[in-house]
Amino acid sequence: MIEISQLTMRLSSGGTPLTILDGINLQIPAKQFVAIVGPSGSGKSTLLGLIAGLDRPTSGSVTFNGTSLSDLSEDDLARLRRNKVGMIFQSFHLIPTLTAAENVQVPLELRGDSEATDQARRLLDAVGLAERQHHYPVQLSGGEQQRVAVARAYAGSPTLLLADEPTGNLDSATGRRVIDLLLRLHREQESILILVTHDPALASLADRVISLRDGHIVEDKLRESRD
Ligand SMILES: Nc1ncnc2c1ncn2[C@@H]1O[C@H](COP(=O)(O)OP(=O)(O)O)[C@@H](O)[C@H]1O
Ligand SMILES: [Mg+2]
Repeated sequence: MIEISQLTMRLSSGGTPLTILDGINLQIPAKQFVAIVGPSGSGKSTLLGLIAGLDRPTSGSVTFNGTSLSDLSEDDLARLRRNKVGMIFQSFHLIPTLTAAENVQVPLELRGDSEATDQARRLLDAVGLAERQHHYPVQLSGGEQQRVAVARAYAGSPTLLLADEPTGNLDSATGRRVIDLLLRLHREQESILILVTHDPALASLADRVISLRDGHIVEDKLRESRD
């Protein structure tokens, strides 16, 4: 469960104060799939960064399963991210000097998983890349790299998965395949999934769609039922 209360982010851009998020309130229950939509510059990525504890807000709070992120040190935040949060970005963010299998293994090893190698192999198998486990990112297509990133994000069964326009650099068929995987793992692992997207078809798959504009929530729509 994530509780966001009066979350505000202000920056100063060349001396001019800029309000990027303005008093966001939001409660996200366990297992929910939330899509965040809105025009470019509306604050979507900033909101994800605050939920992940990558940035500190100007005011307001993010509470994750009862723990307020503002009470945590940088080390505690890093530990929380390592143990509970998976992240996927538009530009994949794989480590170029590591193979596909090693990229997936890293977060498992950081958590002290003694079966990191086997787990990584299982996850790559689940995303259909068992044959490619010894390839480096440069040897993989964009879609394959993003499938490795999905496997890495789900390594260790995070409670929370954050995806920032994960299909933004992929053609629609490849993007669809990545999303199918993302949703399958989300259902199997019962994580919260917060996905930023420009794609209305993709947003329509979510349990809930939140629209941001100029740092405000302008719409928060629950889907009536889920099949
Ligand atoms: N570090 C920063 N310094 C100055 N402005 C920023 C910074 N980060 C984001 N912004 C501005 O904040 C607004 C929201 O950015 P962002 O959260 O990336 O929007 P979105 O992901 O919805 O496109 C934009 O106007 C952007 O230019
Ligand atoms: Mg963004």
